[in-house]
Amino acid sequence: MDPEEAKVKIDALKCEISLHNRNYYSLDQPVISDSTFDVLLEELLHLENRFPQFLTADSPSQRVGGEVIKEFQSVAHIFPMLSLSNSYNEEDLEAFDQRIKNTLELDSSSEVEYVCELKFDGLSISLRYADGVLERAVTRGDGLKGDDVTANAKTIYGIPLKLNGPVPKLFEARGEIYMSRKRFEELNKDRETLGEPPLANPRNTASGTMKMQDSAAVAKRKLECFTYYLSGSDFNFETHFDSLLWGKQHGFPVSNDTKICKGIREVLNFVKEWETLRRDLPFDIDGIVVKVNRLEMQKRLGFTAKSPRWAMAFKFKAEEVSTRLTEVEFQVGRTGVITPVANLEPVELAGTIVKRASLHNADIISQLNLHEKDLVKVEKGGEIIPKITGIVIEERLPGALPIRFPEYCPACASPLIRNADEAQHYCSHSQNCPPQIKGKIVHFASRRAMNIESLGEETIAQLYDAGLIKNFGDLYRLSREQLLPLERMAERSAANLLDGLGKTKEVPFERVLFGLGIRHIGETTAKKLAKYFKNMQALTSATVEELLDVGEVGEIIAKSLHHYFHQEENLALIRDLQEAGLQMKIQEMAGDDINPVFDGKIVVVSGTFKHYSRDEVKQLIEKYGGKCSSSVSSKTSFLLAGEKTGPEKLKKAQSLKIPIVSEEELQKMMDL
Ligand code: IVH
Repeated sequence: MDPEEAKVKIDALKCEISLHNRNYYSLDQPVISDSTFDVLLEELLHLENRFPQFLTADSPSQRVGGEVIKEFQSVAHIFPMLSLSNSYNEEDLEAFDQRIKNTLELDSSSEVEYVCELKFDGLSISLRYADGVLERAVTRGDGLKGDDVTANAKTIYGIPLKLNGPVPKLFEARGEIYMSRKRFEELNKDRETLGEPPLANPRNTASGTMKMQDSAAVAKRKLECFTYYLSGSDFNFETHFDSLLWGKQHGFPVSNDTKICKGIREVLNFVKEWETLRRDLPFDIDGIVVKVNRLEMQKRLGFTAKSPRWAMAFKFKAEEVSTRLTEVEFQVGRTGVITPVANLEPVELAGTIVKRASLHNADIISQLNLHEKDLVKVEKGGEIIPKITGIVIEERLPGALPIRFPEYCPACASPLIRNADEAQHYCSHSQNCPPQIKGKIVHFASRRAMNIESLGEETIAQLYDAGLIKNFGDLYRLSREQLLPLERMAERSAANLLDGLGKTKEVPFERVLFGLGIRHIGETTAKKLAKYFKNMQALTSATVEELLDVGEVGEIIAKSLHHYFHQEENLALIRDLQEAGLQMKIQEMAGDDINPVFDGKIVVVSGTFKHYSRDEVKQLIEKYGGKCSSSVSSKTSFLLAGEKTGPEKLKKAQSLKIPIVSEEELQKMMDL
């Protein structure tokens, strides 16, 4: 491809990707799957890599992250990030209005113009733009200094990397980073699949995400942002509302649910409306922010040490009701995690009927000192699932016994275990516990694993209850004759099921690996492992140390894998899958699919390598478009230095300022 063609293609991809981002985030109507989106992004990344002259600061490729920050730099805010005074009722807001009129010496009957905005429930961020380009993003911290989280902020859709049109040389935008409710629910579903405890609410999740050190992991969390304040000496707005409009025109994400209200009555109406409307928003808000619109008035009102006198937050009450606990159910998940769930007498809360609330773990039950049939207080705050915040002790029934966390699995009676550093209890016997067995098969058959459409949860339960399957390896021993006598299993559905099973022979190795349902092994990790070890044999015999060599594999994952591959029953299961003809190694990429990352590069290979012989390394470099040469010269693109690299070569490369690349870096470049 020549540069001209590349430019056209890059521009087209940028446009297409931006459109899909808009469909996903702004319209909540994605028209392509995540994996198709990833293919477009990969293509853009690849082209920008080959033709770096066409890489721009606002390219959607800049949002994939990659920078890993060991420790965030603490930086001082140019001016402090203050908080807002809070109000909780009509009287508080009326008093705020009166104070403003007094300070501005307006008579009581005049109306002050306010801007009412949603109070987004996330974490605040300060974004500094220099020459129209995002220069630095800093968290609130203690208000005076915060953490530099620029690499993470750049991954957030909505935060402009480069602004539209001419803008002041230097200014700051402030806003709130948040996670949508939908994204939060998806994330918790994924965690459940991995046997990890659920995250409490979108706010804490957004804030925890911004503290992650790997910006590529932040990118995957798909955070969003609203901006609500602009400041810079070159701005000359008359009103706050004008500044928001300017922000919107220049590419900032400004909420449309912002309104100019003439006088405090209109403000009170806005607040009242949003007390109900908030339930239908795709994200959480915890109140309304009321701001004096005219900036000249804001200036006269000024600040207290903690907050502006021209603004006030109205905080919604967390909606709370009381109802009776009927029983606590202890559910067993696919990975054996025990989740206590409170069944409640149905009650209306924040517009929905609540019948259940999660109790999360044993500690929560004992902190609440929960007894049988207690009258419990249920609250719907930021959380999606309502939570029990307390009990009405005076209403406790005589003779009621405390709720005890079971010692044995409610499904298979095996002892429960709890690791010292975990809040969760687990069933100790996964091989004999029906919900775990069924759950593992459901996971194996699920769309993202083997994708057996004809094998849903009900059929799995039916096959298990009929004694036909005890694990997913048994699926491949099923015959038409065994299936036909089952209820609702006609000739056609039996054939579909067997056909669906047959098709799993084509499912790539990484999805087979994901389908095994090993604790903590999600799709991404499965992909990484498959690419690194290439086949099941190498993976099952890897030591913990070898597993730790794989990028993104930490101690927990490495130990989980090692433990799994050292259980005889798991190895037997893998043998069954192998005999059934499932993919046990990665498909070697056809030449056309390889990304020629070393196109035009001249590489000198020196020393010995952990994963390859010297010849293999050379072949790889050539396969990826590069040429190998034996001596370092000014034409060398980089020196690939293994162990015991020739000192002369190293010296020469250093003196000619030629990059020195390690084996790990080489693998990363080839995305292996
Ligand atoms: S204005 C000087 N507007 O609420 C500007 N804050 O305690 C002061 N927040 O940490 C902030 N939505 O992160 C403002 N529409 C909004 C907001 C908002 C949420 C947060 C902000 C701050 C907290 C106030």
